Amino acid sequence: MTDLSPIQVIVNGRVRAVRVTPHHTLLEFLRDDLGLTGSKECCLVGECGACTVLLDGRSVDSCLVLAVEADGGEVTTVEGIAAEGRLTLVQQAFLDHGAAQCGFCIPGQIVSAHALLAANAHPTRADVEEGLAGNLCRCAGYEQIIEAVLAAAGRYAAASADHGTAARARAAGSPDPAVRLDPAATPDARLAPQ
Ligand code: FES
Ligand code: FES
Repeated sequence: MTDLSPIQVIVNGRVRAVRVTPHHTLLEFLRDDLGLTGSKECCLVGECGACTVLLDGRSVDSCLVLAVEADGGEVTTVEGIAAEGRLTLVQQAFLDHGAAQCGFCIPGQIVSAHALLAANAHPTRADVEEGLAGNLCRCAGYEQIIEAVLAAAGRYAAASADHGTAARARAAGSPDPAVRLDPAATPDARLAPQ
């Protein structure tokens, strides 16, 4: 009988404790044990990016990470990206640009896009191409996906500028609601570009 190892992982802000076999992958833990099927199972060899999640803030192919390696860590899946059920600016931009065709690759693309923008708030087109290079799209919707990520970067920059204006207005004692930041613009501060 295979030994089971206890692990404890914070997944989308919630502590999860289970016992897993040594060869159980993070992807299996998320999909099979937790029922979080947004991370897709596809190549299982780290080539397609469909299983991308954030592990301690870094994007990883969850099919290549053992569940025991995530013990003590913090994982964000695509289900945890949209805090309180509100779409992030990245997700909204994907919708606005028709970036999802069959949709199979989209969870991984969304997670990678958030990781990219968290690291680089003002990416060039080349930066986006490089940042999403590990996420394959069999529908070949790359152009719309790149446009969506660039648009999201612009929207985050605009929201950030509004936030700065609102902060300065508050410091000056202005209650003008017109300069307040829309709280829906950056629903999860951990995932918004800094
Ligand atoms: S399923 Fe993990 S990279 Fe393809
Ligand atoms: S939208 Fe179909 S695989 Fe990307």
